[in-house]
Amino acid sequence: MHDDDKRLAAEAAVAEIRDSMLVGIGTGSTVAFAIRAIAARLGDLRRCVFFSTSIATDQEARDAGIPIGRFALASRLDLTIDGADEIDPGLRVIKGAGGALLREKIVAEASDRMVVIADGSKRAERLGAAALPVEVLPFARSFVAARLAALGAEPVLRMAEEGAWRSDQGNIILDCHFVSFPDPGDLAVQLQAIPGVMGHGLFVREVDAAYVADRGVVTKMERNPD
Ligand code: A5P
Repeated sequence: MHDDDKRLAAEAAVAEIRDSMLVGIGTGSTVAFAIRAIAARLGDLRRCVFFSTSIATDQEARDAGIPIGRFALASRLDLTIDGADEIDPGLRVIKGAGGALLREKIVAEASDRMVVIADGSKRAERLGAAALPVEVLPFARSFVAARLAALGAEPVLRMAEEGAWRSDQGNIILDCHFVSFPDPGDLAVQLQAIPGVMGHGLFVREVDAAYVADRGVVTKMERNPD
């Protein structure tokens, strides 16, 4: 059921891609359906250049026959399609359960339009049921954890079998639950101001639209122009 909804949301977003666009591809299980949908349309999208947000997506895209450009050489993209862990009615989003939040934030910020795709389980009236991932320079681990606790978070070091989980950049992740989730805009500013925080999974203004599918029905949410 969730997989069908992920696929439908992904296909609706991929329909936004036009030939010649510069397109960012996010990370995760919903994006995997977008990769398949892009691969199916490659003949119509010959002049597009695609960029990825993680080593995992690089591999998945290449396996599907989608060539991936070097984001280091790109200063702006037209459209990025990515997954989400929680989406509130104001299109504020928590991302990063897959650990790709830093590259995802950079690629989203570089994009004229960012669209998230999800099944209906990702809707939330208020953010905060999902853990908020914070990517941290390993050197600053305890210092940042203390600063996060001072903001009301309960930071937990993300683990892998062989020790602390590492991002594509070699950083660690502190997954944060909050007893009471602060105002997302204020929280984003405070997190970014902590030295040693390389990025966080709170997307307050980056998301322009969302395709969310519930039991086979896709709903499009579009940010109102300010
Ligand atoms: C990757 O770091 C994340 O931001 C994912 O995009 C997010 O966790 C959604 O993943 P799923 O589509 O697998 O739920």
